[in-house]
Amino acid sequence: MLVLSSIIFNKEMRKKIRDGERESHFFTIFSLLRAYSTPTMLSLVTGANKGIGFETVRQLAISGVTVILTARDVKRGTDAVASLALPNVVFHQLDVQDDKSIHSLVSFIYERFGRLDILLSGQAMNVVQGVVKTSYHTAKQCLDTNYYGVKRVTGGLLPLLELSTYGGRIVNVSSLRSELRRIPSDEIRKELGDIETLTEQRIDKIVDKFFHDLKHDMLEANGWPMMLPAYSISKATLNAYTRVLAKKYPNMCINCVHPGYVDTDINWHTGTMTVEQGAKGSVMLALLPDGGPSGCYFDQTQVAEF
Ligand SMILES: NC(=O)c1ccc[n+]([C@@H]2O[C@H](COP(=O)([O-])OP(=O)(O)OC[C@H]3O[C@@H](n4cnc5c(N)ncnc54)[C@H](OP(=O)(O)O)[C@@H]3O)[C@@H](O)[C@H]2O)c1
Repeated sequence: MLVLSSIIFNKEMRKKIRDGERESHFFTIFSLLRAYSTPTMLSLVTGANKGIGFETVRQLAISGVTVILTARDVKRGTDAVASLALPNVVFHQLDVQDDKSIHSLVSFIYERFGRLDILLSGQAMNVVQGVVKTSYHTAKQCLDTNYYGVKRVTGGLLPLLELSTYGGRIVNVSSLRSELRRIPSDEIRKELGDIETLTEQRIDKIVDKFFHDLKHDMLEANGWPMMLPAYSISKATLNAYTRVLAKKYPNMCINCVHPGYVDTDINWHTGTMTVEQGAKGSVMLALLPDGGPSGCYFDQTQVAEF
């Protein structure tokens, strides 16, 4: 209780609330209350051996959540767990492109914990090399990791999230490259942004159309984003998928978040924010109280336009 009252009533917090950051702090306070009062909450973070995912694991674990840190490479993952030296962090291998690996992870969680409370998908393929010109192969890998990879893992873990006594939380780490205003084509923007008509099948069809146009060198002519095209579409479709899921599972809080421009390997450490700052939005959304927002896109800790 002492810890809680000092969190809630410290001077800095009171000043920030006065400064008008009420909504964000409401969620932060409830997130902390939730984490401290429910020490056995179980979270899984993908792509967590480094960068924002790694820091997210650290922040969740120090707030009392048991965390499964996953990485596709066993050595990188176990080294990451060892460097944290926190008793409530365990490792399991997960390559989101590999069905066998996903199956093994699902069995592990079911047998050891019987449920999952929070799924945080943070992995992404580093595609910054293809800023303007994306090769077909690189684009395939990118969408397979950032969009289909999230779908595969989420699909496998949803039955366990439905068993959560906390209601289930899903956080998909997106990017500001996902924002619809960056897509020149009215038609694609409208399709990806219309929650009334969006379905998983429709989103997959948009991905197919992207690959068709990429193959025939028609990206620009058909109004796809020309800055990081595959990465941008992988995140725009990820957001759309997040909204479809949120509609389908109204008892869970399912959101996506742009972490900010963060100093990590993905941008050759050109990011201006620290990983501690970059993980804040994900952690806040992972620990949302019941009845918190769902089906939303956050720019760090603030709700933003898709
Ligand atoms: N940093 C930024 O400024 C920024 C901005 C916007 C959005 N984001 C998003 O934030 C998230 C975290 O990125 P980051 O900046 O922390 O990048 P990062 O340090 O490069 O981390 C990316 C992580 O994804 C993992 N990964 C890649 N392919 C995988 C696969 N098939 N299966 C499982 N894991 C895989 C990587 O593992 P390996 O080590 O094995 O490669 C690594 O752990 C990403 O979704 C990214 O798109 C970052």
